[in-house]
Amino acid sequence: MSSVNGTDWIATRGAPLRGSIAVPGDKSVSHRAIMLASIAEGISRIEGFLEGEDARATEAIFRRMGVRIEAPGPGRRVVHGVGLHGLQPPDGPLDCGNAGTGMRLLAGLLAGQSFDTELVGDASLSKRPMRRVTGPLARMGARIETGEGGVPPLRIHGGAALQGIEIRTEVASAQVKSALLLAGLYASGTTVVHEPHPTRDYTERMLQALGWPIEFSPGFARLEGGHRLVGRDIVVPADFSSAAFFIVAASLVPGSELQLQRVGMNPRRTGLLHVLRAMGADIEETPAGEQGGEPVSDLHVRHAPLRGIEVPVEHVPDMIDEFPALFIAAACAEGATVVRGAAELRVKESDRIATMATGLRTLGARVDETDDGATIHGGAQLGSGAVDSHGDHRIAMSFAIAAQLAAGEVRIRDVDNVATSFPGFDALAREVGFGLRTAQ
Ligand code: S3P
Repeated sequence: MSSVNGTDWIATRGAPLRGSIAVPGDKSVSHRAIMLASIAEGISRIEGFLEGEDARATEAIFRRMGVRIEAPGPGRRVVHGVGLHGLQPPDGPLDCGNAGTGMRLLAGLLAGQSFDTELVGDASLSKRPMRRVTGPLARMGARIETGEGGVPPLRIHGGAALQGIEIRTEVASAQVKSALLLAGLYASGTTVVHEPHPTRDYTERMLQALGWPIEFSPGFARLEGGHRLVGRDIVVPADFSSAAFFIVAASLVPGSELQLQRVGMNPRRTGLLHVLRAMGADIEETPAGEQGGEPVSDLHVRHAPLRGIEVPVEHVPDMIDEFPALFIAAACAEGATVVRGAAELRVKESDRIATMATGLRTLGARVDETDDGATIHGGAQLGSGAVDSHGDHRIAMSFAIAAQLAAGEVRIRDVDNVATSFPGFDALAREVGFGLRTAQ
C-alpha cells in the first residue's frame, strides 16, 4: 500500500550483490551543463545527462527562458545557447522542484538578467535556507527577496548593476560559491571567492572549458565579468553519490563482489572512500581515464567486515551527500562511529541527522544525536519496521541498504523523490541482488 505521501518500498534481505553496473550521470554536473550551455554562444552537445527530476527542472527553466534544448535520446541534449544576454523573460514563476543546487545557482545567474524572475520549489526546497546566497549576492548589488525566514520563493529583480566582490564564504558550499561566480559573469570588476574548506569545483572547470578566463585552486576562485562562453561538447561522468549506495551495500552484504564502471572521482566528492577504507572496506580502484575533464575509475567492491571510527572532520565536505549511506555502514560496523562538524546535514533535503537517527532507531540501532553529527553504535542486529524518508531521496536509498542486513521486512515510506537523483535505482538494485519492491 502506498502511504499518504506517495509510494512506499518494501525492502528485505536479498542475495549477495554481484555484477558490473554503471550508475547514471552526475547531478551537479548535469545542472551546470544546462545552465552554462544555455548562456554560451552556439551549440553544446551533452552526453550522460542525468534524466532525474532535479536536472530536468533546470532544463525546463531554461526552455521557459527561450533556450532551444533538444533531447535526441536518453542522457543526450543539444543546447542551442543564446549567449550571456540572450535569455528571455519567462511568463511566470520558475519551478526548481526539489533542487537546492538548481535554485541557489540560478539565484546568482538570474541576478544578472535585465528582467525579473521568481524561483519556487517543492515542499522540501521551500524550507531550505537561501540567505547564504542572497546575502552575499546582495553585497554584489543583487536585489532578491526571500520568503519569511529566508526561505523560497526568491523574487529576483532584474536590471541590477552587479559589482564584483572578494568574499570569504561562511559555509563550505559549492552552491554558494557557484552562485557568486555565476553572478560574477554579469558583474563589473572581479569576483573572488575564498572558502573555509575546498568544495566541488565543477562550475569553475566548466566555465574554463567553455572559454571563460578563470583562476582557481582548492578553496579559491577568481574571475572577472564581461567575457563570453562558447558552446562545446560536454560529457557528464557517472555520479559518485549514486555509486556510493552500491559501494556501501556491497561492503556490508556478506558474499558480495560488485563492479561499478567509470565512476566520477573528483577528489571533492570521494571522501567516503577514505572513510570506508579506514573502517576496513575492500574497494579496489582502477583509473579509467577522464570523462568531461573529470577523472573516472572502475571500482571493485568486495564484502569486508567494517569497524567504527571517528570520521575525520576534514573529510566531511568531501562526502557531504554520503552521510545517509555512511550511517547505515556505521550501524552495521563493529563499535561506534562518531560524526562531527556536519551541521550542514540538518539543512539538506531533510534534516539528515534526525531522519537517519530516527529510522535507525526504529530498526533497533542506538544513535546519539548531537547538533553537528551523531554517534552511531554499531553491531546490533537490525530488525524490521517502517521508516519515513521524509521525501528525501538519499534517506530512502540508504534504508534500502539497511534492509539487506535486517532480520525482517523494512517498509520505506515516501520514496518518489528517488527520481530526483537516481531514476531506476530500484531496478538496478534488484538486478545486483537487493530484495526491494514497490508496496502494492
Ligand atoms: C552541490 C553541492 C552540495 C551538495 C549538493 C550538490 C552542488 O551542497 O550537497 O547535493 O552541485 O554544488 P552545498 O554546496 O550546499 O554543500
